[in-house]
Amino acid sequence: MDVRSAPFPLELTVPGTAGADFDPLLPVAELPQGTMRRVTRGDLDVLLVHTPNGVVAVEDRCPHMSAPLSIGQLDGCVVACPLHDGRFDLCSGDPVQMPTTGGLDPDGRYFPPWSPAGREPKTDPPGLKAEARRLTRVRRFRYFPVRIAGERIEVALPAVPQAPALPPVPPA
Ligand code: FES
Repeated sequence: MDVRSAPFPLELTVPGTAGADFDPLLPVAELPQGTMRRVTRGDLDVLLVHTPNGVVAVEDRCPHMSAPLSIGQLDGCVVACPLHDGRFDLCSGDPVQMPTTGGLDPDGRYFPPWSPAGREPKTDPPGLKAEARRLTRVRRFRYFPVRIAGERIEVALPAVPQAPALPPVPPA
């Protein structure tokens, strides 16, 4: 089986992963092309996706409002979010369809709310929630470096910062 990691824009690498150790997350055989899987390490949910370009790893959080993309729909490099119909390109990092709530794209351009064909037009009554939707900016994906080591998919995860040691408690 010829499986490789997919290239991604290096400026979108997750901070703290340069030079980090690679962790084995999944056997290659468990991620056929066209599939995606959530793998959890500590409080980090990683989304592994086998795109036509190879395997990518991002956080399993929508770049809009953090819904789990692992239960969305994958079509080539594009994943559709189950919450607001946003569609995001896992190969470039960019949104390809803004969420139905509208809001700001990664470059800060405003998009109005919209409704999918066949559904009632969305109303957007003024107020704090509408303001929050308008000001929510969709991010570009951030990528964890991936390598294929034999039959395993390995991912560089950021080191968890260690809490500083507490000073010893003086005897009472
Ligand atoms: S949370 Fe994914 S499109 Fe809104």
